[in-house]
Amino acid sequence: MTERNAPAGDGGPRLALTGVGKVYDDGTEALAGVDLAVEDGGLVGIVGPSGCGKSTLLRIAAGLDSPTSGTVRSTAERIGYVFQDAALLPWRSVRGNVELLMELRGVPRAERRERAGQAIELVGLSAFARHRPAALSGGMRMRVSLARTLADDPDALLLDEPFGALDEITRAGLGDELATLLAARPRPAVLVTHSVAEAVFLSSTVLVMSARPGRVVARVEVPFPHPRERSLRTTPEFAELVADLTGRLYRGMAEAA
Ligand SMILES: Nc1ncnc2c1ncn2[C@@H]1O[C@H](COP(=O)(O)OP(=O)(O)OP(=O)(O)O)[C@@H](O)[C@H]1O
Ligand SMILES: [Mg+2]
Repeated sequence: MTERNAPAGDGGPRLALTGVGKVYDDGTEALAGVDLAVEDGGLVGIVGPSGCGKSTLLRIAAGLDSPTSGTVRSTAERIGYVFQDAALLPWRSVRGNVELLMELRGVPRAERRERAGQAIELVGLSAFARHRPAALSGGMRMRVSLARTLADDPDALLLDEPFGALDEITRAGLGDELATLLAARPRPAVLVTHSVAEAVFLSSTVLVMSARPGRVVARVEVPFPHPRERSLRTTPEFAELVADLTGRLYRGMAEAA
């Protein structure tokens, strides 16, 4: 069962998946009994081995695919989705791509321009606003994709490895920007990442998934208060939590193997 645009204000999570399973038509079992609840402003980080069903889970959360079992409930009217592939229009400039979603929604041109400019600056690509995607690196294209979603200012954010192709410094910088944006306007967000440290640094809750069919093998509330300083990354407490979650990730992979 899927309930979209459910009435808000009943105190429950803004986005909730309960007992979600997914078997594709070819018989591939991607997910089994996954629960995911996301509150306003609470970023849920998801880590898990390649092919364990993370993208499948996000697509189901967004309503782009349906679960075979379980329920999805969302109170978000507009969900912003950063896909694992940048999925840019090759004939449009960076700015044209970033304006696309707003254009489709009929946001007036001047406002569109301004918001696109801000988002492009936020991801550090102002010097490339007129370039076509073919003239950008893979990491730059992902940053355009992130800017496109952020410029549209959605009610919920689903981010599938948005920082995957980036170096450590750019990655950390964009992570900080994301945290600032979420603090300024709290909304439910889910971040799929292959970096346990990134998940811990940015999330309120981290889910560790097993190998396919993806199940949640650990659900950890991150104890560090927001806003988090960069220096947190070098504390023993941070390292300890990352090591603990990494251990659970390995055990989850071994169990399913
Ligand atoms: N449309 C589809 N039809 C059939 N099988 C699919 C489809 N999409 C995904 N799968 C399968 O479902 C499983 C989970 O895929 P998914 O893309 O969700 O994994 P993932 O955790 O996002 O992996 P990665 O970290 O590599 O991105 C894989 O075995 C994949 O082959
Ligand atoms: Mg994926």
